[in-house]
Amino acid sequence: MSLFNVYPLFDITPVKGEDVYVYDENDTRYLDLYGGHAVISIGHSHPTYVKNVSEQLSNLGFYSNSIQNPLQSELAKKLQQVSGCNFYSLFLCNSGAEANENALKLASFHTQKKKVIAFTNGFHGRTSAAVAATDNPKIIAPINAQQDVELIELGNLKAVEASLQKGDVCAIIIECIQGVGGLDEATTSFYQGLDKLSKLYDAILIADEVQSGYGRTGDFFAFQHHEIDPDIISIAKGMGNGFPVGGILIHPKFKASYGLLGTTFGGNHLACAASISVLDVMEEEKLMENAQKISKYFFEEAKSIPKVKKIKGRGLMLGLEFDFPVSELRKALIHKHRIFTGSSKNPNVLRILPPLTVRKSHINQFIEALKKEVEVIEKNRIKILEEK
Ligand SMILES: Cc1ncc(COP(=O)(O)O)c(C=O)c1O
Repeated sequence: MSLFNVYPLFDITPVKGEDVYVYDENDTRYLDLYGGHAVISIGHSHPTYVKNVSEQLSNLGFYSNSIQNPLQSELAKKLQQVSGCNFYSLFLCNSGAEANENALKLASFHTQKKKVIAFTNGFHGRTSAAVAATDNPKIIAPINAQQDVELIELGNLKAVEASLQKGDVCAIIIECIQGVGGLDEATTSFYQGLDKLSKLYDAILIADEVQSGYGRTGDFFAFQHHEIDPDIISIAKGMGNGFPVGGILIHPKFKASYGLLGTTFGGNHLACAASISVLDVMEEEKLMENAQKISKYFFEEAKSIPKVKKIKGRGLMLGLEFDFPVSELRKALIHKHRIFTGSSKNPNVLRILPPLTVRKSHINQFIEALKKEVEVIEKNRIKILEEK
């Protein structure tokens, strides 16, 4: 059987990971400034994580959600403590899309309405309601298109209010910092305005923290920087450091009832062991502080890179916007300098999403490589111009 060919692949086969590095089958080392798409939070194969997940596997890897699983409560308690999000309750699932799907569903159950406000350039995953709220027609199948979604430009509070006034909106879903879209973020007054308006018009504010959460921005959640109180917060990616797990934090205004939400695998023993280990290591190694420190260093040092139009993002959710498309640059970084970086919907933005354990020396290595490659690209551009 062949694989259903939906991913364009680099010809690299990582077989081993250690902290910020991955190694291919020839033991060639790559600096991972992409974190497997913002997933690796505490570093590849962190010893505490490996030990706890392995021990859990040798005891009990899985049982369904029909029995007591104290690990779920331990995770919820720890998550409250580390995130500072008091009063919320936790529902566990398996991925970011599933988290958003459940968030949207819960908003609709609660308000008995069905229209969703989402924002241009946003990405919320590929399940039915989540993908309909994603600004990418190419990934919306006809079966998803039946959802009632209004896409509004990020930052346009007036348009949000005009839409809410019609009275049929169940949810506003937003990434505080857009990931796939290219690291755009609106102002604090916009996010605070959204918060107020959602309460005024009985719509549920969903903060999609799937990518920006779990310490990635230097705060536990990106929305905390704007001092707002979302009704639902969706999480995944960094939560399991590679173990597939997601969840939603749910405000006490929502009433739970048996069967309202559910999943077979969500919150299983292994997922909980992985997620608890991530929080333990984040605390022990002060990784949010490290994210803040390295981010500050990055912003300072990145000023010296030629051709950078804008340094974007916060914490270790970063982007460098060049005045040319970055696809060749990314290839050169991987193949010549052995450094992984990410792309975005904006072809000129290079995305940097390293493990939160990254250090100044890695940033130096990256910036040196980048300067060399930008120089090569610039020389080639001038040569082509001269030959014309
Ligand atoms: C902000 C955001 N939401 C949701 C998702 C979907 O997550 P998953 O791929 O785990 O379904 C992503 C994935 O990139 C994301 O960046």
